[in-house]
Amino acid sequence: MAKFFRTTKVVGWCLILMSFYAITIRVHSQLDSLGFISIDCGYPDNSSYIDSSTKMPYNSDTQFIDTGTNYRIATLYIKPSLDKQLLSLRSFPNSTRNCYTLKSLDAGLKYLIRATFLYGNYDGLNKLPTFDIYFGINYWKTISISTADAPVAAEVIAVIPDNQVQVCLINTGLGTPFISGLELRPLKSVLYPAANATQAIILFSRVNAGPTDNTVIRYPIDPYDRIWRPWNTPQVWTELASTSTIQNLPNDHFEVPSSVMQTAVTPANSSRLQFYWIPDPKDKSPGYISAFHFFELNKSKALREFNIYLHDKLWYASPVTPDNLYSGSIYGADPAPQYSQYNVSVIPTSKSELPPIINALEIFSVAYITGTATDSGDVNAIMAIKEKYKVNRGWMGDPCAPQAYAWEGLNCSFDTSNTPRITTLNLSSSGLIGDITTSFANLKAIQYLDLSHNSLTGSIPDELSNLLSLKLLDLTSNQLNGSIPADLLKRSQDGSLVLRIGDNRDLCANENSCELPPKKKSPMILIIVIVVVVILVLLIVVILVLYIRRKWQGVYRKIMVAPCIDNPQEEGSDNAGSLLQLENRQFKYNELVGITECFRREIGRGGFGKVYRGNLENGTEVAVKMLNESSSQGVQEFLAEAKHLTRVHHKNLVCLIGYCKDGDHCGLVYEYMCEGTLEDHLRGQAGNDSPLTWKQRLRIALESAQGLEYLHTGCTPPLIHRDVKTSNILLNANLEAKIADFGLSKATSNDTTTGICTAVVGTPGYLDPQYYITFKSSKKSDVYSFGVVLLEMVTGEAPIFPGPVHIIEWVQQRLAEGDFENVLDMRMGEYNVNSVRKVTDLAMSCTAQEPGQRPTMSDVVVQLKECLILELGTAGIRSHNMYSRSDHSSNSNSRTVYMDASESIQSSAFKVEHVSDVSESAGIRSHNMYSRSDHSSNSNSRTVYMDASESIQSSAFKVEHVSDVSESAGPTLR
Ligand SMILES: *[C@@H]1O[C@H](CO)[C@@H](O)[C@H](O)[C@H]1NC(C)=O
Ligand SMILES: *[C@@H]1O[C@H](CO)[C@@H](O)[C@H](O)[C@H]1NC(C)=O
Repeated sequence: MAKFFRTTKVVGWCLILMSFYAITIRVHSQLDSLGFISIDCGYPDNSSYIDSSTKMPYNSDTQFIDTGTNYRIATLYIKPSLDKQLLSLRSFPNSTRNCYTLKSLDAGLKYLIRATFLYGNYDGLNKLPTFDIYFGINYWKTISISTADAPVAAEVIAVIPDNQVQVCLINTGLGTPFISGLELRPLKSVLYPAANATQAIILFSRVNAGPTDNTVIRYPIDPYDRIWRPWNTPQVWTELASTSTIQNLPNDHFEVPSSVMQTAVTPANSSRLQFYWIPDPKDKSPGYISAFHFFELNKSKALREFNIYLHDKLWYASPVTPDNLYSGSIYGADPAPQYSQYNVSVIPTSKSELPPIINALEIFSVAYITGTATDSGDVNAIMAIKEKYKVNRGWMGDPCAPQAYAWEGLNCSFDTSNTPRITTLNLSSSGLIGDITTSFANLKAIQYLDLSHNSLTGSIPDELSNLLSLKLLDLTSNQLNGSIPADLLKRSQDGSLVLRIGDNRDLCANENSCELPPKKKSPMILIIVIVVVVILVLLIVVILVLYIRRKWQGVYRKIMVAPCIDNPQEEGSDNAGSLLQLENRQFKYNELVGITECFRREIGRGGFGKVYRGNLENGTEVAVKMLNESSSQGVQEFLAEAKHLTRVHHKNLVCLIGYCKDGDHCGLVYEYMCEGTLEDHLRGQAGNDSPLTWKQRLRIALESAQGLEYLHTGCTPPLIHRDVKTSNILLNANLEAKIADFGLSKATSNDTTTGICTAVVGTPGYLDPQYYITFKSSKKSDVYSFGVVLLEMVTGEAPIFPGPVHIIEWVQQRLAEGDFENVLDMRMGEYNVNSVRKVTDLAMSCTAQEPGQRPTMSDVVVQLKECLILELGTAGIRSHNMYSRSDHSSNSNSRTVYMDASESIQSSAFKVEHVSDVSESAGIRSHNMYSRSDHSSNSNSRTVYMDASESIQSSAFKVEHVSDVSESAGPTLR
């Protein structure tokens, strides 16, 4: 009777399951017929295929993400043994956070999510990145790519609270994040009890023990598509196998496939099984949990009973006796504490007649689910808004959480309950087109909604009246029409709502006025006319005042000192004003002769001619640049520079005090930058006398980047410098950097010949290679040159080495060899290796061959700020040398590479190595290492040893690449 009941229950369950899947398929498109999501990231858009080994459909990632660039791994790394998903990938050079959204899930159910990564030198840079991944708002894992050819995987089992989950890649400044594959599999709630609403489990290792002929078991043998990798059996263990089908009890917590349970290991000559694993030192997990799976393969009735010990203590209170009918498991839900090494012993009890066995083993680290995701109603609403207006602000992942990655343009409340709510949405000047979507009305907790300065049309939806917390609604400067919903109007009248509706041609305050459009319009026109007249009058007054001032100044002063000296912070550019100012600052040639004491003190030569030092009558030091009559650049360019300079005021741009156009003599008078050029500080006398520290270099980099950013974005039309180099970055007494020499600057105007020149301008070594092809300079050419400048600051070297070898190649080569330390300028004293690394990476992306892949100057400024924060944040707590080199010459064919602690070894930690009986172990384990072998081929296997004793304290640990180490060293989990 009981048996019958169980059967019907199971059948019923299946029916429910099947109908659930059927419904799911009909309603949603992201899931396949099994409820799986299988994404081949970077696969050509909107295409799919059936994987030849698993027979599962894989889709391109088009519908899951809208950022990033598709790539294929380099041909060199393509091997037949690789899963197809690993051949392509999507890379994310832009934004800190990029997320895949997996939809159509069932809120509150348990899912397995797996991400795979194979670098394969896809970008040709041979730069192995490190980045973080998150599931939802929770930290999942740090992905450290340690070799170009070994795939890395991350798997999490978690209860997903919503009907969607996002998988986000976070750029932590250690290289460009990328992803090759992403898979989601639904699990029954009864599976993996350790994964619950407050804790997710992250796979460390899942192995199948016994004779496994090296095959990986996954779907369709495992209906949940877990990947069971063979656990190579060491000599001190014996393999067991059976062909009987192993059943699962109805509420089995693991449902390990029968074929996994059919094989096992047992000790060969001793009574116990021992092994250990070393966790990833970068792992933020509070500890590890394990699940051992057992089945009795011996048909005799002899007793097999054993205990499992972690170190010297029982890990599980009661002894285990494997069943000979059903698969059994022993597992914990709470993690064992953190150890640098987990030593496990499986030891028979005194009653036992048989030695212990293990059929399969899973090891997980845990992630506590702490933060809460934003209210799902808010998320759905903001997603709909993002979709409708195609908001392009890098809005990805959860809008509010984690707080560090909250979306730009909105504020959230975190206080009232645990669930963050969106309280402010500011889409002012965001180019919104179309009507006001009712999705705004679904942001139920919103208090401030600013949609001003857009092109919104249509009427204000009544639904906005339902927003009871709304305190401010700004609709200024749109093209709205119709009447204002009565309720909003009432609230605005009683003062509970600030309603701004100005500058909307056809919007009317009440329904009556709507019927009489002409009446409504005439006061508008009147107002406009009045405003225009007032502005005109003001303008005339201003011009008159300036004119009179100039006259007076002409009478009373000999030489006027530009205000920018006194107020270098002053920014902004008023065209009319500047032109007048320029005329104000005109010098006569004989004045220049006086200022420079007959051009006695030459301090440099620019594209124009010579530069002289001088003093104004009030003592202010200036630099006077005289146009060489035989200069390749003509009067035209000279005037262009004068014109540009007067338009441009920024604290990081050298300030023009005045100019001279007196007969044949042309000259420019600048503020004097007493510390000279950056070039001189990096490679010249000044650099020898007192080398710049890394912190000073970083500041100079940031300041000059700000100067360039201002040229690119703060000026209308934008200016391209076209000759960015270290000798055009000048330093004042406080070592503040200012960009000089706008002689080559050319306004990028609207006409199509923008920036096209017939002669090459710029300086060899700094010149964008693209420029040689197109003769066209763009903002991205400046970015390229600035990248070279950054490399000079990091290395202290000139852009071109004898050879000639370009600094970019030189650095690239050393980075590829893992020889980062040798790149750095030894004279720069203390530095935070992460900030230097980040600047180097930034420089490399600035100098990308393809202009589209280079960041903008604004991105550069942001990144440099982060570097500076990194540098300042760590000042004082770090010792000078984070990279140390020493000779470990024990092995002639081994190479020693030092890595930053933050670049930990990723999946190489997937090793569980067997230790034989204690007596034997001392000899085998003298180095305290673990081994790893190549995933794809045995003949060309590569082993990474890691010495646990050199861990985080020293901020560096050793990784040795040793070729041809046999796998017999021990069982390797893979
Ligand atoms: C694990 O075993 C190794 C020797 O195999 C020993 O050095 C280490 O201290 C042990 N770890 C702990 C935490 O007991
Ligand atoms: C929205 O942003 C604009 C520009 O950033 C700002 O001027 C405005 O005050 C903001 N509105 C609110 C409600 O904060």
